[in-house]
Amino acid sequence: MAFREYKIGCWMFGISLSLSMFITIILPGIDISSMSSTKLALEKQLTYGWETGFNYYDPFLQGKDKPIKVTLTKDPKTGVAIDKTEAYVFPAGTHFPNGLTHDNILGDEVQKASVSLGKIDQASEDKGAVFVVSVTSNDTPYMEYATVTRGWNVDATLKASDEQLMAGSGKTLFVREGCWWCHTLLPEQTQDWQSFGRPPMVGDFNGESPTTFGSDRKAPDLLHVGSRNSSREWMVMHFFNPRLVQPHSIMPRYDFLWGDKDADGKNIDLAAWDEQYFAYAKGESVYPPGVPTPAADSEARMLVDFVLNLK
Ligand code: HEC
Repeated sequence: MAFREYKIGCWMFGISLSLSMFITIILPGIDISSMSSTKLALEKQLTYGWETGFNYYDPFLQGKDKPIKVTLTKDPKTGVAIDKTEAYVFPAGTHFPNGLTHDNILGDEVQKASVSLGKIDQASEDKGAVFVVSVTSNDTPYMEYATVTRGWNVDATLKASDEQLMAGSGKTLFVREGCWWCHTLLPEQTQDWQSFGRPPMVGDFNGESPTTFGSDRKAPDLLHVGSRNSSREWMVMHFFNPRLVQPHSIMPRYDFLWGDKDADGKNIDLAAWDEQYFAYAKGESVYPPGVPTPAADSEARMLVDFVLNLK
């Protein structure tokens, strides 16, 4: 039989390919869908929204199609003072994270609580929605569709908020700008604990895509960077030119994320800034030039929001 070895080879190839697909795709899938989401996983899903990075709704990775995370100290419906609460605002048309649209992402208990107490099955992307993360009396976290449970609608919530973070859009920029070439978002179970904080737990990643763990660390882990450095001013200077605050940093400049105008609507002239900066670097002037304040809708603002939200 001329083709006997060939046939056996085909079978062996087919079997090993199927087996490896089963082991790498199906088995983890079963494992992941049996894993209950932690509170952090729910907060991350609601902060980052649907799929981050290149997708049909944001083909040029500009941070579109993302929710806004807000802090409230008064009830958007009644205006009465409430304990500090974080809410996640999805303006009409913003796509929901997978945990809200697929039944197998959150884990059984969290899913059940999110539907029975949180009413998430009534939320619709077309109408827009406000969510919060709550906890049941036996400590199960769940997503709550606050537009129905508390009467918080999108406009009133944005208006009543003390602080608005565009952390979801910022994550898109983190992906686009390749921050993960140098930075990880994954402290390991080693002495990493001491400098970078608690490693993530199983259940922290349900529904998040991509996780942006990074792979080859050349710079500090950023998973908890907002806890060790919560200074917006520092972040703004550091992104404009890392050498302003860390003279020997190898991190690139991200001054182009400021766009054309600063927060006061004044033109940003990067060439003029460079000239003054290089004079300072050569010791010809004592102080470096000031860093423009990023405009409210600038990419720099989104990226800083994302980084400061990593607690
Ligand atoms: C070429 C490698 C490289 C790239 C790319 C890079 N960084 Fe860095 N980053 C560093 C290094 C090195 C440091 C430590 C020195 C310093 O503070 O500048 C650092 C520090 C930081 C810090 C402060 C960390 C701390 O522990 O306080 C933040 C925040 C940060 N980077 C965010 C970013 C973001 C966001 C991006 C993408 C827009 C980025 N970095 C891209 C190398 C890089």
